[in-house]
Amino acid sequence: MQFYIDSADIEEIRQANSRGWVDGVTTNPTLVAKTGKRHMDVIKEICAEVKGLVSAEVISTTTDAMLKEGYELAKIADNVVVKIPMCEEGLIAVKKLAAEGIKTNVTLVFSPLQALLVAKAGATLVSPFVGRLDDIATDGMSLISQMRQIFDNYDYQTQILVASIRHPVHVLDSALIGADIVTIPFKVMQQLAQHPLTDKGIAQFLKDAQKMPN
Ligand code: E4P
Repeated sequence: MQFYIDSADIEEIRQANSRGWVDGVTTNPTLVAKTGKRHMDVIKEICAEVKGLVSAEVISTTTDAMLKEGYELAKIADNVVVKIPMCEEGLIAVKKLAAEGIKTNVTLVFSPLQALLVAKAGATLVSPFVGRLDDIATDGMSLISQMRQIFDNYDYQTQILVASIRHPVHVLDSALIGADIVTIPFKVMQQLAQHPLTDKGIAQFLKDAQKMPN
């Protein structure tokens, strides 16, 4: 299973990368705005640090404008994936970019039928948002199960990138369902490494080590 970091903060991306937790990166306008830097500069900086795929989102909403922006973003580095919001205009852009060999990630996906359309358009990645579904009292993880079943039924190559991860159980459930990728905030990645019995065990071993003869 691949881990992407859901961040535009180069410092936390470096920290996560040094721990072997970064197979790729997802950004969005909210995350980039928090850095206070220019979009292009942020994506350039991330691509210099990470070898895996880096999703950079278009801000436009019409096909022509999305394509123009997508070409500019794709020029930054070979590992840039053009991230496009789920909408009919976006799917037209995805189909064209895919035909030209440019990688795409369709974001803001909330239903299995939206995901099916994304796969049919030939996107590289599809981003279902589990946390935001949970927020409105809908089971986000059942969307992932349904997508896995549909993609396997028809052997679609589009990879399922579980997004809007809020806690470690989202990661566990994604792994059990067989999602291809999870994009995780750094704070949640750190939670995955923690267990109170590990801390207790380390403390006990340190204490017992003092009793060893020199
Ligand atoms: C990833 O591609 C998304 O931009 C991100 O996971 C959204 O997460 P949020 O719902 O916590 O904003």
